[in-house]
Amino acid sequence: MAIIGTSIQEAGAWLRDGWPVGIPTETVYGLAANACDREALLRVFETKGRPLTDPLIVHLASQEELNRYAVDVPDTAYALLEAFSPGPLTLILPKASILPDEVSAGLKTAGFRIPRHPLTLELLRSLDFPLAAPSANLFGRTSPTTADHVADQLGEQIPYILDGGPCQIGVESTVLDLSGREPILLREGGLTAETLEAFLGKALQRPHRPAQVGQAQRAPGTLAHHYAPSVPLYLFSDDQELVDWLLQNKRLTLQTKPPTLLRFDKTLLDSTTQHWHQEILSSSGSLSEAAHRLFGALRRLEKEYSLILAQKVPNTGLGAAINDRLLRASLKPLH
Ligand code: TXA
Ligand code: MG
Repeated sequence: MAIIGTSIQEAGAWLRDGWPVGIPTETVYGLAANACDREALLRVFETKGRPLTDPLIVHLASQEELNRYAVDVPDTAYALLEAFSPGPLTLILPKASILPDEVSAGLKTAGFRIPRHPLTLELLRSLDFPLAAPSANLFGRTSPTTADHVADQLGEQIPYILDGGPCQIGVESTVLDLSGREPILLREGGLTAETLEAFLGKALQRPHRPAQVGQAQRAPGTLAHHYAPSVPLYLFSDDQELVDWLLQNKRLTLQTKPPTLLRFDKTLLDSTTQHWHQEILSSSGSLSEAAHRLFGALRRLEKEYSLILAQKVPNTGLGAAINDRLLRASLKPLH
């Protein structure tokens, strides 16, 4: 079982030895390995059960390191890093050959970010290699936002988890592809699209359609089904849609293990659901509080209930990333 601790020396020693280690970031916990060590990278894929076709994000200690691991870096990249790093922004850039192909699933580009967590920044500064780190969950499942979440799914397979407390933001970094002519927003995340658009002075393009499993080009967070709890989650756009669905599915109330509701800021006042558990993400209606609590709530609910009926949050700011995760976690409701 993994040791959970706060020793940068110990985390560093395992990493130098080629072992994957759980690390805290401001977004979610990562499963880190030496980004220049093929064997270590393969262990990360194996530990997560992740297909080799899904590229990893390379975590750097500073902007200066970008010149070593990326090539043809446009000025926009430096301007964005200056403004938003360390922080929840991943830039896709042409990769230098010093990074093995395993990092990027054979793509000529790789994702780079400077995480904003003091322990992990100190760890990165103490190493002479960057850290490739996907989120530290089993492939396709909910991302971890505490060290215990990491231990829960991966504890048997890794030696050490660096405990940096609960992740401040709670959803993954925003992924921006700067390798083409125009920036493309590949994944909504901790840095809002509005903030990026205001900075760049233009609307961002989005990819045309979600990636399919096994397709090398796109990355895991862009798969149509991802971030999923172990029980079904149905997502409803508004309360009316949910109430109509409940009316057609009265039999659910007879089950010994009733469903639960995952709500943004208010309980649903409805006769069917009045005795059900309703999980409120933020009673004050704060999207950052909702993002911070989202994955932890899903992990708790999947243990106690057999079906999660979730509600979309307002689609502005961090709400876009929350809705994106909920949508990918969801299955179409069966009528
Ligand atoms: O917040 C985060 O980004 C967390 C923490 C640990 O840093 N990491 C994370 O990694 O979410 P992962 O592996 O779960 O998600 C990787 C994302 C994919 O969704 C994809 O959009 C992007 O990284 N990505 C990485 N390399 C790429 C590439 N070469 N081309 C396109 N997208 C890439
Ligand atoms: Mg992930």
